[in-house]
Amino acid sequence: MPKLKRIVTLPGDGIGPEVMTQGVALLGALANSLDMEFEFSEDLVGGACLREYNVPIREKTYTKCKNADAVLLGAVGLPEYDNNPSHLRPEKALLGLRGELGVYCNLRPAQLYDILVDASPLKKEFIEGLDLMVVRELCGGLYFGQPSGIEQRKNKRFGISTMTYGEDEIRRIAIKAFELARLRRGKVTSVDKANVLSVSQLWRAVVTEVAGDYPDVKLEHMLVDNCAMQLVRAPKQFDVILTENMFGDILSDEASQLTGSIGMLPSASLGDGTPMYEPVHGTAPDIAGKDKANPIAMINSVAMLLHYSFERPEAAKTISTAVETVLKQGYHTGDIQIEGKLVGTKELGGRIIEETVKNI
Ligand code: IPM
Ligand code: MG
Repeated sequence: MPKLKRIVTLPGDGIGPEVMTQGVALLGALANSLDMEFEFSEDLVGGACLREYNVPIREKTYTKCKNADAVLLGAVGLPEYDNNPSHLRPEKALLGLRGELGVYCNLRPAQLYDILVDASPLKKEFIEGLDLMVVRELCGGLYFGQPSGIEQRKNKRFGISTMTYGEDEIRRIAIKAFELARLRRGKVTSVDKANVLSVSQLWRAVVTEVAGDYPDVKLEHMLVDNCAMQLVRAPKQFDVILTENMFGDILSDEASQLTGSIGMLPSASLGDGTPMYEPVHGTAPDIAGKDKANPIAMINSVAMLLHYSFERPEAAKTISTAVETVLKQGYHTGDIQIEGKLVGTKELGGRIIEETVKNI
């Protein structure tokens, strides 16, 4: 009997649905060879859900996700909702899911495919062989801290967001980063703003305590402004970057662009509940529905799903090799600046799926 895995798919907005189609097709094409059976259940989130139900996500969707083996998400957010109050914005679905599923550990790898070395904004010698992992805390910090809101005080409005971390929240994400570094090159760079923020001073102290249990891993602390600069100056110094929610949001976008296109990078959100996998890129409404979106971030997210949730790291490797092979053949979407043949989402996805199936 093949192993049954239940996956909730949440295509979301913009290019989300068309890249999701490729992710689902890939899993479907691999099921037999992996001796697995995938049961997909699709649901609306973000703008797509606001349009239908006037909420960014429904309670029953949370329940469905909590009962699944994994969640695969496309992207959420559309400019038409930019002026909505925060509880009625598409992004609320994503933040709600992260909180409800307790997926506090967000892994965002930034790896450069050799073939894309000239597509990176940095010179070849600074970037060749780049392979780093941002470990972003995902359920706390500025995104979730209380108090938060816009208040009227006398005749002035005040906007309030709070960056707060309990030591347990810092400890559990630090442990994930050190465990991961052990499987990689053995270095953790913990990024904070300890020269100014009290919350960062606690972060630094707790990470240092955790490091005591990992004498084989080298720990360094770096201020976030310096890290932003080092990422474009000498990015190969990094192995694992461990950081809080907001800093991780910013630094992971920066790191992703080093690899030539944000359209390539996947993410995994792991923690207490059902794990969630999604591309790092956004909804790109300008190219939505035009068969122009790069499906590789979604395809790589499926690879992470197979690796981290279904214990099939070898299948994940086959997928990333297939991505590289197809890029080497010159097939690419418009976001990737390489020589070769410009193709659409469907063709690029189809070729990578075919190549994966051939080698699995
Ligand atoms: C990301 C995105 C989200 C975030 C938005 C869409 C809420 O930028 O996943 O990086 O800020 O976390
Ligand atoms: Mg972001």
